[in-house]
Amino acid sequence: MHEVIEQLAEKRKQAHLGGGQKRIDAQHQKGKLTARERIELLLDRDTFEEWDIFVEHRCTDFGVDKEHIPGDGVVTGYGTINGRLVFLYSQDFTVFGGSLSETHAEKICKVMAQAIKVGAPVIGLNDSGGARIQEGVASLGGYADVFQQNVMASGVIPQISMIMGPCAGGAVYSPAITDFIFMVKDSSYMFVTGPDVVKTVTHETITAEELGGAITHSSKSGVSDLAFESDIDALLNLRHFISFLPANNREKPPIWPTDDPADRIENSLDSLIPNDPNKPYDMKELIIKVADERNFFEIQPNYAANLIIGFIRIDGSTVGVVGNQPLVLAGCLDIDASKKGARFIRFCDAFNIPVLTFVDVPGFMPGTSQEYGGIIKHGAKLLYAYAECTVPKVTVITRKAYGGAYDVMSSKHLRGDVNLAWPTAEIAVMGPKGAVEIIFRKDIGNSEKIKAREVEYREKFANPFIAGKRGYIDDVILPRDTRKRIARSLAMLSNKDIENPWRKHGNIPL
Ligand code: HXC
Repeated sequence: MHEVIEQLAEKRKQAHLGGGQKRIDAQHQKGKLTARERIELLLDRDTFEEWDIFVEHRCTDFGVDKEHIPGDGVVTGYGTINGRLVFLYSQDFTVFGGSLSETHAEKICKVMAQAIKVGAPVIGLNDSGGARIQEGVASLGGYADVFQQNVMASGVIPQISMIMGPCAGGAVYSPAITDFIFMVKDSSYMFVTGPDVVKTVTHETITAEELGGAITHSSKSGVSDLAFESDIDALLNLRHFISFLPANNREKPPIWPTDDPADRIENSLDSLIPNDPNKPYDMKELIIKVADERNFFEIQPNYAANLIIGFIRIDGSTVGVVGNQPLVLAGCLDIDASKKGARFIRFCDAFNIPVLTFVDVPGFMPGTSQEYGGIIKHGAKLLYAYAECTVPKVTVITRKAYGGAYDVMSSKHLRGDVNLAWPTAEIAVMGPKGAVEIIFRKDIGNSEKIKAREVEYREKFANPFIAGKRGYIDDVILPRDTRKRIARSLAMLSNKDIENPWRKHGNIPL
């Protein structure tokens, strides 16, 4: 018995050492933590239950049969974050470069299948050289098995990918299917083909960081939702992020105790909107002032910044926020903003998170780049997402709600449950200037007449009362009361229960 226990301890020691001290030191020299150090930081102390520590690869080619490291390059299991169950896998770059073998893939699929069964999130900490080259097609098969599990888990349990090293080639498609991708600055990158192939095919010279680093993907491509400074920063933020999410699609989001009164009045909001309707203001100020304890977890702050998305809590419960940002492109909706908003709303809808929308939108962005890029189909994504969504929907129009964008931004017509407007709201087909230039085209040469018409139009239409007369908005509220009114609306909606007609799935314009 004693011998067996010693053998067990030896095996565990070997597994814990991964690819050996030299490779662990190399990992640290790159500013990266090891797979196990990452798990320790992410999970509550002493809660990690590891699975499959004894799994080894089955490959016999190219001499790898002489090198067997227990665990085979990925640490898998479950534990808790703030007392709540999560499953995870953490790729170990010190073992064959974290590359994915057949058995490595089996380990990942096993925790994912279990997470689906018990209804808990899966977190992937990715740090891998891609397919285990010595294994060939067995490794490709392993990837596809992971992709299939990702798709089965989609909309059932939250899936989060934290990219903490290389993630290249087909390997990128597992994170791409997950709900959120976070990256670490300077040490992680993602691309389908690396700088060498790019140089050969398109003759572009580019570094890995420029092509697929955290800054690139969180500002240019929108592939990544956030970029963190270091492994530690990333993992601590991930702990905070997961606190907003329900464990699965059958649960409501968790409620965290708060000392912030739901009926808190914010007098400063009464002067948020500038007197000049063309002057911008920061919509984030409103979001932060409405949130419990001013805590706003923003997603994709540097991508399509004309639309703000993220999570707050109101009266302790998670709310997904979508808001036009007048500071960027005057808050116009464009292709990137539409895609960003639509995906976020669909996540909220899948996981029972109410959607709160703040509207100040002059319309969709004009221009050939938008039209040639397919704004018609991409803009429709946002419309579709709002219309399909069955979770509670509360909308507050602060200023402009013009044209198609008025309809799209969670209007009453798209089953908005509670639609409120500030007295400064302007709900109309278009802005006064554009409208007058069309309906009084013959007066265009006469600037005085046009000015007078603009004033007339503004008085008649640039207000919330025309929409109010028709019941398109439920009430005009004082800005200072916004948090209170939203909190009451969400409380009233907490048992909302509507269903869309049965269908295999809708056909959102992809
Ligand atoms: C087996 C690998 C490996 C891989 C790295 N290693 N990638 N072993 N299969 N894919 C091993 C290295 O041999 C080395 O072993 C150790 O991991 C660390 O690698 P280094 O090259 O020393 O590290 P670094 O300089 O930091 O470079 C990291 C890297 C590079 C950029 C990821 O290793 C690399 O380019 N690897 C190959 C990437 C690749 O082409 N992958 C296959 C892509 S195709 P020792 O023993 O020396 O420590 C693919 C298809 C997926 O993934 C399709 C899915 C549908």
